[in-house]
Amino acid sequence: MSAVIDLRSDTVSRPSDAMRAAMAAAEVGDDVFGDDPTVIELERRAAELLGKEAALFVPSGTMANLVSVLTHTRPGDEILLGDQSHIFQYELGGAARLAGTVTRTLTNLEDGSIDPAAIVAAVRSENLHSPGSRLLCLENTHNRCGGSPLPVQTIDTLAETAHSRGLSVHLDGARLFNAAAALGVPASRIARDCDTVSFCLSKGLGCPIGSLVCGTSEFIEQARRNRKMLGGGMRQVGILAAAGLYAFEHNVARLADDHANARALADGLRELGPFRPNHPQTNIVVVDILRGELDDWLGSFEREGVLAVAFGPQRMRLVTHINVSSADVDEALRRIQSAVGAVPA
Ligand SMILES: Cc1ncc(COP(=O)(O)O)c(C=O)c1O
Repeated sequence: MSAVIDLRSDTVSRPSDAMRAAMAAAEVGDDVFGDDPTVIELERRAAELLGKEAALFVPSGTMANLVSVLTHTRPGDEILLGDQSHIFQYELGGAARLAGTVTRTLTNLEDGSIDPAAIVAAVRSENLHSPGSRLLCLENTHNRCGGSPLPVQTIDTLAETAHSRGLSVHLDGARLFNAAAALGVPASRIARDCDTVSFCLSKGLGCPIGSLVCGTSEFIEQARRNRKMLGGGMRQVGILAAAGLYAFEHNVARLADDHANARALADGLRELGPFRPNHPQTNIVVVDILRGELDDWLGSFEREGVLAVAFGPQRMRLVTHINVSSADVDEALRRIQSAVGAVPA
């Protein structure tokens, strides 16, 4: 069988030869001493792209969110976040355990947004008994909501709602550049009214590792201390930062290809019968299974050479990325069609 088509996540992508060459050639220094020129340049460029004063390079999206929550809050504070958010669903309760915050979930609407009225209702009055409401966390694009890009007006309204009640706003923009590509606006426009924004290099941008937290210089200075406390102070990581700089140059404009491939994949799956895919606006295809069992489908996809992941009791997720061409999508659909023949009705 020809090569496996890996659609489990955009995190499975491999750095290209050109990205590896840029990494090998990177100038480095000890970043904890502030000596690594490539990290300094990556942080400068990230802040510039997002229209913020400063940025901090961290190993992962999870640490980016945790450092942000730690820096925005004090133990005992309450953070408001969507019930489908990555921070709540997939980060092992770090905001509660390590930042000591009360994590209060609000219902995520189908498009990944939150009803502003729900925020207003959840904000607590200052009194002797209640934790202080400190932070609203948003996510764009929204992973569990099918990669939906929150429109800028929605972000603006939610940020305004939070700010007017004294809360700060953190945006988990793991796939911020996918959102920007889908909405046709610069990333800085999406970030404009959010106090802090994190984004990942290791997803659609095709790097092996890394995320950035962006915000004011004062915030980032404190976030740097919190990163160190979490064990995230790194040394000659210009080697990794070089991959990010390479990606800003070469891998942002092409994200629209991943989105077109996701649409083609969803359209093809819809025609096969047992599947009800979303109408992806970015690179995430979420598929409800209409007959048969999810595990049987995943197993039969794998036997045909297509990898996907479970995303709910009868739901799977397939993600397009830099290593998946439109020809790969056609081939994946041919293989899935064979799987449809093999799974009992
Ligand atoms: C929306 C979102 N935020 C944060 C993360 C965490 O990123 P990492 O896997 O680098 O910790 C992910 C990872 O998939 C994600 O989808």
